[in-house]
Amino acid sequence: MTLARIIGTRNTRGVLHIGAEILRNGGSAIDAVEATVNAVEDNPLDQTVGYGGIPNLLGEVELDASIMDGKTLKAGAVAGIKHHKNPISIARKVMEVTPHVLLIGEGAELFAEVMGFKKCELLTNRSRKIYDAFLRDAIQELDESFNRYKKYLEQYIKNYRLREWYEKLTLKHHGTVNVIAIDSKGNICVGVSTSGTALKLPGRVGDSAIIGAGNYADNRYGGAACTGRGELTIRLSTAKSIVNYMKNGLSVKEACIQAIKDINSLNEIGGVSCIAMDKNGNTWAASNRRIPIYYYMDIEMKKPIELKGTLIQAK
Ligand code: GLY
Repeated sequence: MTLARIIGTRNTRGVLHIGAEILRNGGSAIDAVEATVNAVEDNPLDQTVGYGGIPNLLGEVELDASIMDGKTLKAGAVAGIKHHKNPISIARKVMEVTPHVLLIGEGAELFAEVMGFKKCELLTNRSRKIYDAFLRDAIQELDESFNRYKKYLEQYIKNYRLREWYEKLTLKHHGTVNVIAIDSKGNICVGVSTSGTALKLPGRVGDSAIIGAGNYADNRYGGAACTGRGELTIRLSTAKSIVNYMKNGLSVKEACIQAIKDINSLNEIGGVSCIAMDKNGNTWAASNRRIPIYYYMDIEMKKPIELKGTLIQAK
């Protein structure tokens, strides 16, 4: 019997007990991960995930999420989905009832509707205000005269500073929720959910929806998840790399550190952090932007504890 436990990124501090309670009652890692991620998605004060997330360049909230079951290696994901505040639950349905792994945009919304998920407005007054402020700043960097969003988008795309400008944005605003759980049967599940980069180009998909990049789980070795600039972890398949490093004999700590060194070797702008758990429930985190903090709770604990991982600064 494994001592069931759960870890999550900073934004799970107040909700990790929800997953721990499910594990304590003999529930599965998948149920624990989904419920914990749902609680972050429902929180209007979290501007990086679900309801209240910062919108794309046109003011529309587009969400990405994925879930992976380490026992079967089955996975489900949705990308660029609008009007649904719990994309992790829709991703779980993709995993459980479809022959597919990833549904995007309107197709994902249609699937959600058929599965009985209720639509809602994701933009809150608070996220609208933050969006307006971001947009004002960004417009000033380009040209003060562009005050209509469509016009602004056109200029953004045509402007040859697009890359440089996106890099500035990703430094300003990025966030995601990562949750990893192992249940008493030793089954590992990883869940990831995000509203992506603030002011992203409509249609931009980050690593949270990409199995192998932002999310990977395999009971035989462990699980891993990422936050930060998804473009970098997509290029390196970071979550799968961490699991592969463990497969090849590295400890969970060494695997996380190596993955962040790999990110740094790209020599690109943008922070990335990862959390991971090995098949025995040992955990670690690493980051290239700040000392990574994550929360841990096993079923013998009454509340989560804060843990620190390793900072590997880019040279
Ligand atoms: N890591 C979240 C994203 O890039 O969208």
